[in-house]
Amino acid sequence: MPYPHVLLSAAVSLDGYLDDTGPERLLLSGPADFDRVDEVRAESDAILVGAGTLRADNPRLLVNSAERRAARLAAGRSEYPLKVAVSGSGDLDPAANFWPTGGEKVVYTSDGGAPRARAALGGLPDHGIEVVPVGPEIDWRAVLTHLHDVRGVRRLMVEGGGRVHTQLLREGLADELQLALAPLVVGEPDAPRLFGPGGYPGGPRNRMRLLGTRAVGDVVLMRYVPTAPGSGTAAVAADHRWLALACELAAACPPSRTAFSVGAVVVAADGTELARGHSRETDPADHAEEAALARIAADDPRLAGATVYSSLEPCARRSSRPTPCARLILDAGVRRVVTAWREPDTFVTGADGSGLLAAGGACVVVLPEYEERATAPNRHLLD
Ligand SMILES: NC(=O)c1ccc[n+]([C@@H]2O[C@H](COP(=O)([O-])OP(=O)(O)OC[C@H]3O[C@@H](n4cnc5c(N)ncnc54)[C@H](OP(=O)(O)O)[C@@H]3O)[C@@H](O)[C@H]2O)c1
Repeated sequence: MPYPHVLLSAAVSLDGYLDDTGPERLLLSGPADFDRVDEVRAESDAILVGAGTLRADNPRLLVNSAERRAARLAAGRSEYPLKVAVSGSGDLDPAANFWPTGGEKVVYTSDGGAPRARAALGGLPDHGIEVVPVGPEIDWRAVLTHLHDVRGVRRLMVEGGGRVHTQLLREGLADELQLALAPLVVGEPDAPRLFGPGGYPGGPRNRMRLLGTRAVGDVVLMRYVPTAPGSGTAAVAADHRWLALACELAAACPPSRTAFSVGAVVVAADGTELARGHSRETDPADHAEEAALARIAADDPRLAGATVYSSLEPCARRSSRPTPCARLILDAGVRRVVTAWREPDTFVTGADGSGLLAAGGACVVVLPEYEERATAPNRHLLD
């Protein structure tokens, strides 16, 4: 299910807080960083906040630069990004700054909260507000699906608060984090934290990948991407990144008229890349998964919790070597495979690597939105 690219954006104190406990909003960033945030907003299709932030900060969430708004219009976009609020209760203040400013707004709420939200906002017919119930409780996947499929959102900027950031990271739905680390210490245990407790993908040992840092005034902007694979059948944002990498590796294979070009990456549960490989890497008979697995010690304990990403479903039968890749994966102890493309009948009729893996106790996740990338280096074999 395609979702928008989800960017979590926040300013945070040195001790991990988003705010203090006082009635006034704590300004963690300075003018240069507010301008950077304005630029990120202008690049986004939508900006999302939780109802807690609406109540605490009463934000407008606008693109403040007239030049950036003009550039959006010139590019055929709306002047302002869609503004999105999430409220389970539907208990929203119609006098808040959020409603009369900017362009269209959508409120995601629970089935129970929807009548309350409609009653609260019913007196604002001119403000372009849609209220969308997403089930008995807030279902973040339903929110993202609606934003993508119905509102056409491809880049979603999430501006807090802590409860919203925590849930999106915990559910593996954040593609990227942009954190501005401010040079102050809050020191109040009851102040809102950036991320709360709970089980995050990969557990406490997972390390995100640093994309870059830069000083913006007196804050440091840090950009990270989550790397820890999901567990089970639900794909997380990191699964998408790793599968995209496998598809890139497929494009690097030496060309062949007699075998597919495939890329594979093996990733530990904490997000550490264990190995990668591609077809015909060193020998014309090499398969991608086999090349990657050959680089990992057979007794590596991380294999049991690892995920294999393969641009093409691992093979169930092959003529070039005795053991097919699906069997190699099971023998290595890996129990999760993410792939883009089921094997067609080009070389082997009725190959069912996914079936072999599932029969061996592995979970197979197919993300068909990557099929085009996976098939691109193999077009000549499919016509
Ligand atoms: N430093 C920064 O960059 C930054 C940015 C934004 C906010 N903040 C700070 O963050 C604080 C607010 O954070 P917060 O954690 O209290 O609030 P929040 O995350 O903004 O919003 C939480 C609210 O969202 C709704 N919600 C979210 N997930 C839900 C779910 N699964 N089910 C039902 N409802 C759900 C609920 O609304 P209902 O109560 O209506 O049900 C909930 O109370 C403020 O102090 C603000 O200043 C700081």
